[in-house]
Amino acid sequence: MTKLSPNLLIEAQNLRRTYHQGGSLFTALDSASFQVWAGDRIALIGRSGSGKSTLLNLMGGLDTPTDGTIAWVGLGPRETLRPAKVAFVFQMPSLLAPLTVIENVEMPLLLGDTPIEIARTAAMEALERLQLTALAQKLPEELSGGQIQRIAVARTLAYHPKLILADEPTGQLDHPTATLLLDTLFNTLKDTDTALVIATHDPLVADRMHKRWTIQHGILQTDSSHNGLQTVNATPQPKLSITRPMPKNSAPF
Ligand SMILES: Nc1ncnc2c1ncn2[C@@H]1O[C@H](COP(=O)(O)OP(=O)(O)O)[C@@H](O)[C@H]1O
Ligand SMILES: [Mg+2]
Repeated sequence: MTKLSPNLLIEAQNLRRTYHQGGSLFTALDSASFQVWAGDRIALIGRSGSGKSTLLNLMGGLDTPTDGTIAWVGLGPRETLRPAKVAFVFQMPSLLAPLTVIENVEMPLLLGDTPIEIARTAAMEALERLQLTALAQKLPEELSGGQIQRIAVARTLAYHPKLILADEPTGQLDHPTATLLLDTLFNTLKDTDTALVIATHDPLVADRMHKRWTIQHGILQTDSSHNGLQTVNATPQPKLSITRPMPKNSAPF
């Protein structure tokens, strides 16, 4: 059992997900065990059909495993994960057609009961950061695929999630647009401890991540190095003496 740490976001053991396919059972993910830490930048690499989306959906609590356990140690219970703590960026454009760009970006905040004025301000700030302010009043049908994808990222960033799960976000984009999207994402997340997991088979994406996980036919291999921003005390801390009072503002862990 892993020691609880505020930096550990997800701990999963022996996750399995099977699907019924034409009368038989198909194992899309088999015995996946992994941890996701604050600040992680993980590339999840695998061919089409290898189980990447299945794994991301389990990580974000969109789906439940057939077997195994998953605990959102540093995030809280599954019901509280979305929309505020865990954000998804999907491969396909995922804006709501009848709503303007700004309404799309503020939507998750409104669903999370953020007052409208605060949601609007946060949404405008997110659009500004991605240099998309000029598109605020446009409808999705007036935008290019690249613009839509960047707005989907702005929507994700508007509520400062602790974990972003991006499912082949550059899959539909040409090279310059993909680079622009990645630059924006990485610049915005720089110096934050938001963890980022990107499912991809794009080397352009994988090269920019600190960790590489590979998945083949539902078998996940994680690399064991921790070179993200997570900080774990390697040196044992001296025990507090019973007679020494805790400092007033000390954290409860
Ligand atoms: N809802 C489903 N019902 C049946 N089979 C599924 C379902 N979702 C995924 N699969 C199968 O599981 C395997 C892994 O799918 P997926 O996780 O989407 O792979 P990837 O994202 O790597 O392309 C594929 O063979 C796919 O056909
Ligand atoms: Mg997929």
